[in-house]
Amino acid sequence: MEDKKIKVEVRNLTKSFGNLLVLDNVSFEVFDGEFLCIVGPTGCGKTTFLNSLTKLYDIDSGSITVDGEEINPRKHNLAYIFQEYSTMEWLKVQENIEYGLKIKKFSPEAIKQRTDIVIQMVGLDKYRNYYPSQLSASMLQRVVIARAFAIQPDLLLMDEPYGQLDLTLKYKLEDELIKMWERQRTTVLFITHNIEEAVYLSDRIIVLTNKPTKIKTEIINNLPRPRKVSDLEFVKLRNQVTDLIKWW
Ligand SMILES: Nc1ncnc2c1ncn2[C@@H]1O[C@H](COP(=O)(O)OP(=O)(O)OP(=O)(O)O)[C@@H](O)[C@H]1O
Ligand SMILES: [Mg+2]
Repeated sequence: MEDKKIKVEVRNLTKSFGNLLVLDNVSFEVFDGEFLCIVGPTGCGKTTFLNSLTKLYDIDSGSITVDGEEINPRKHNLAYIFQEYSTMEWLKVQENIEYGLKIKKFSPEAIKQRTDIVIQMVGLDKYRNYYPSQLSASMLQRVVIARAFAIQPDLLLMDEPYGQLDLTLKYKLEDELIKMWERQRTTVLFITHNIEEAVYLSDRIIVLTNKPTKIKTEIINNLPRPRKVSDLEFVKLRNQVTDLIKWW
């Protein structure tokens, strides 16, 4: 990357639950505008890390800064797509998407415009007036994705967001994510179990160990975009990353 300004800096982050040490003195940074993927074995603390980052969990020690200041989800323009569905049951699809925009005090015109764009993008136009309880799992996840995209965050945190979607929709939303990222220069921190997805999306991949969790290695991903999963170079990198995590 030509521009190496640091967006997120994680220093000596340690987090345990009782006497279970989960994150063991983890340090890394995310560069401004970077697309960083984190992969790690199940239960190693990926969700715990994002929950620590967004202050849902207290950490034992260490520091997390955004743009050089202690992270503050109220102040920094970030969006967090949780691993579990997190729609608001009492609001219709459209209202779920508008919610964050209202909190951020966008004008009614801007709210309408942004909502229309993302609702089309995720293919839920016909379901604007449905309640979450009337939707399937993948539709719920699309509502959550649309809500995050709508606020055009400058830091987007995604915890295995596409795991529940069928393949066609997954590919489509991966491409939409890349488009948004290229257009808005969003910094993205994307957690996934799927190596192919990490190689398809990222500029860099951080691989975590089992608990107590440290960084095992990192891989720079300079494959040109747009990427194709069938390209020789793509397949080579995917296999290289796959070999690295065989020890899981
Ligand atoms: N609130 C909590 N209280 C106690 N233990 C917790 C809590 N949240 C997570 N843990 C434990 O911390 C460890 C890390 O959990 P976490 O959910 O962060 O893993 P993960 O890497 O996101 O896993 P997965 O890939 O399955 O989503 C696990 O051993 C889990 O049991
Ligand atoms: Mg998780």
